[in-house]
Amino acid sequence: MKKILLLLTISGSLSSMAQNTLNIVPAPAELTLQKGNFALSPSTVIVVKNGVDDNAAALFNKFLEKTFGFTLKKVKTAASNYVQLTTLQTLVPGKEGAYALNVNPKNITVSGQTASGTFYGVQTLIQLLPLKSAKTGSKNYPLSITALSITDYPRFQYRGMHLDVSRHFMTIDYIKKYIDYLAAYKYNTFHFHLTDDQGWRIEIKKYPLLTSVGGYRNGTIIGRYPGKGNDGIRYGGFYTQEQIKEIVQYASDRYIKVIPEIEMPGHASAAIAAYPQLSCFPDESTSVGKTPWAGTKEGKQVQQTWGVFEDVFAPTDYTFNFLQDVLDEVMPLFPSTYIHIGGDECPKESWKRSPFCQQLIKDNNLKDEHGLQSYFIQRIERYINGKGKKIIGWDEILEGGLAPNATVMSWRGEEGGIEAARQNHDVIMTPGTYCYLDHSQSKNEDSVTIGGYLPLEKVYGYEPIPAVLNAEQAKHILGAQGNVWTEYIGYPSKVEYMIFPRMMALSEVLWSPKAKRNWKDFERRLPAIYNRLETVKTNYSKAYYDLQATVLPAENNEGVLWKIESRNTNAKIQWIPSILNSSKLLYEKPILVKQTVDRMSASLFDENGKSLSTLYQSFHFNKATGKKITLVNQPSKSYPGDGAFTLVNGVQNEMKLSRSNEFLGFNGTDLDATIDLGKITDIKKVTLHILEQPGSWIYAPSKVQVQYMMSLDTDEKPMMGKTMMASVDVEQGKGVDMIEIAGAQSCRYIRVIAKNYGIIPSGNPGAGNPAWLFADEIEVN
Ligand code: ACM
Repeated sequence: MKKILLLLTISGSLSSMAQNTLNIVPAPAELTLQKGNFALSPSTVIVVKNGVDDNAAALFNKFLEKTFGFTLKKVKTAASNYVQLTTLQTLVPGKEGAYALNVNPKNITVSGQTASGTFYGVQTLIQLLPLKSAKTGSKNYPLSITALSITDYPRFQYRGMHLDVSRHFMTIDYIKKYIDYLAAYKYNTFHFHLTDDQGWRIEIKKYPLLTSVGGYRNGTIIGRYPGKGNDGIRYGGFYTQEQIKEIVQYASDRYIKVIPEIEMPGHASAAIAAYPQLSCFPDESTSVGKTPWAGTKEGKQVQQTWGVFEDVFAPTDYTFNFLQDVLDEVMPLFPSTYIHIGGDECPKESWKRSPFCQQLIKDNNLKDEHGLQSYFIQRIERYINGKGKKIIGWDEILEGGLAPNATVMSWRGEEGGIEAARQNHDVIMTPGTYCYLDHSQSKNEDSVTIGGYLPLEKVYGYEPIPAVLNAEQAKHILGAQGNVWTEYIGYPSKVEYMIFPRMMALSEVLWSPKAKRNWKDFERRLPAIYNRLETVKTNYSKAYYDLQATVLPAENNEGVLWKIESRNTNAKIQWIPSILNSSKLLYEKPILVKQTVDRMSASLFDENGKSLSTLYQSFHFNKATGKKITLVNQPSKSYPGDGAFTLVNGVQNEMKLSRSNEFLGFNGTDLDATIDLGKITDIKKVTLHILEQPGSWIYAPSKVQVQYMMSLDTDEKPMMGKTMMASVDVEQGKGVDMIEIAGAQSCRYIRVIAKNYGIIPSGNPGAGNPAWLFADEIEVN
């Protein structure tokens, strides 16, 4: 066997850019390298002139102690060999958090415009320390720091990361670690998602059942929604008010504001389980449907599955008094001006059924249930404004009329944010397609994720200010935020796997000047970024260097080509033909596959022969595999697969949305594909492989039609029945992944039309939006 090493190169010369940012993340606004180094050792002192910087000094010493095993003595003045922290310099007017950092062979000075600026300067300094000298038992001092001068300041005033602790609870120790991560990359806001259907996580003294009942569920579905079963394990937890104060203080010491989210009027199952009077129908048991369930189904229950639920807060005086009492206890715990009140995904079914709600709509001259949602949010806003605070809500709060002073968090794309900015409201951008860090970051994702595909470079390329806004409107875009929903993130190391390195990419979007953002330079820094995460024992995803597979048409449309690539410059790739033939072969060029194969694999090896990543692929051959295919409507840019060929590439998706790139996604439009079988072919049936996942707005097509044609250029009208056309109506809600259309025919061309379901009906996630149609393969037998 001829063996050659496959060498891949990263294009472009990077040495000059390397000078500009070293390996600092987020890249500083201005950096100039100077001659020489500063040698930091236990004999270096830390000069703190002003009490305001004691905090930053203490945190720097804490880092040194933990990482290198020594601290610096704090003094008022020193002649040399010092690190000096000072605040209250005017550096960049109007930029909270600006700082200057100067390193020369005699001393280091960090000068912040504000105490937060000094703290950010210290964070940058920490990134300049050589981590290879981290605590190993031996004392590798001094620590050499390159001489340089930096002037730095944030681009956006709101730099947020979110964490959902309702779906999965995280301990207070882990929350502190999460806050440390935010601080390290100069985020200033932690959005703490404390309540949802699957658990209420904050102690409210006046309503103890919120945590003793609402804080626990009797089990959790196993695997991806709708679930292969239920683990039957009682699950939950909550933070006491003392613990919340501890978290808020810990964050505040790191210049991070904590914004609590108390969800209303939807996502309220846990609160309703504790206090059924909060529901429009207190006596109705929670609707469990087909969910694999643990424990009793009687009465109101904390949810054990994911999604959106119809039983929401009733807009009664009881509920408003309850929510005001809750807010009275929540607001003093959080110094933040903002309180997030949710507002997303509130089905209107209960309000439609409730005579009370219908009367309320009439009495208040409201248009409909959307008007009632607006009434609900506005009433809460008045209460919160009355306490000197402001509300943030998800973009659904635009529906039925925006509350007068609300800030909008735009998550269902950028449109909500654009509309709110046009109405002169402040906006925080968190569009799913760029900012949802629960989406897969690898095309070969083997762990269960909620779906979507959000690779590192896409996060990095996000521009929070929509081009359609004028300069005045753009001022309302306060910043952006990474969201971490935890349905499929059950433990801290998975949180880390999902956020790193993507939250670092987002930090550069939020902090660095727009002109300074440079993907090639971030890519150059990646090995150093990974190395740093490894040294501090933080889990992260290496997806950027993963093997990437594409399936391409083969010559003459006979078979398919399996093409494997890696961005790892020093790696080699080996492949194994199938589960039945385990000989290891060196990958040289795309592999020609001409028949069904069970689990072909490819692995990436580093210089030392260590396996870095492996991917598996099965191919299912049929009469359409590898053939020419054309589409009338192109799929959405968000789910383009590998183009039309995706439907005849022999790959049948087995990982559902975790590998969403194996699908073509059509948003509101039909799939209309024509396959050229190459010659007249006998056919017994056509099978369209699809995904049905209403919780993710993905519906089965309502109808699938197949036309059998001898040529493309006839005027023949396709006919139903025996000759040229067959069609099936598809039943929704069965979780089908294959639709078979039988019809014995001989033909050269096959046209498959799958009709999009249309608008998502009310009471479902995404109601009122066009349904998605996802298809992964057209099989012809
Ligand atoms: C959301 O993701 N439901 C805000």
